[in-house]
Amino acid sequence: MTVPMRVMISTDEIQAKVKQLGEQINQFYANSDKDLVLIGLLRGSVIFMADLCRTIEKPHELDFMTVSSYGGGTVSSRDVKILKDLDGNIQGKDVLVVEDIIDSGNTLSKVVEMLQTRNPNSIELCTLVSKPSRREIELDVKFLGFEVEDRFIVGYGLDYDQKYRHIPFIGEIGL
Ligand code: IMP
Ligand code: MG
Repeated sequence: MTVPMRVMISTDEIQAKVKQLGEQINQFYANSDKDLVLIGLLRGSVIFMADLCRTIEKPHELDFMTVSSYGGGTVSSRDVKILKDLDGNIQGKDVLVVEDIIDSGNTLSKVVEMLQTRNPNSIELCTLVSKPSRREIELDVKFLGFEVEDRFIVGYGLDYDQKYRHIPFIGEIGL
């Protein structure tokens, strides 16, 4: 079944942005002698991470974690739990957390809190998309792709009910 979809960010725009982010990341970590690990939050970050990591020159590890999403829950229910933990150790490493989209900021702020207790050398955030008007918690995002209005978007990893992650652009579903 196909649904009407309005392109918000085209495949070309995404690819150009990923390349740009890769250049920033290469510069940022060029002088660090610590091991670098990219941490992707499953499942939304997978497509972005796959493209992004191929722009990073420095050898690095890829690791993944799944945290519980609070769905449409209220603010008070926004407790984030680890459903699948990292496979590797991050102690003393440069950690780059890769996310598909930051909405309220709750997920990433909890993830950063949890990762900090494991004593990495550094933690930075990279997100493809951000919805600044939805932010409830301030986050220092070092590497940011696109800022978008408060619209529900899918594609390039982003889902609606676990579907549409494979769409090669970012689009709005005509609901
Ligand atoms: P936050 O904790 O509110 O920042 O939520 C971030 C998570 O919400 C993302 O990782 C996505 O899984 C999901 N999300 C937020 N906005 C969208 C959207 O427009 N499309 C698809 N998923 C979204
Ligand atoms: Mg997500």
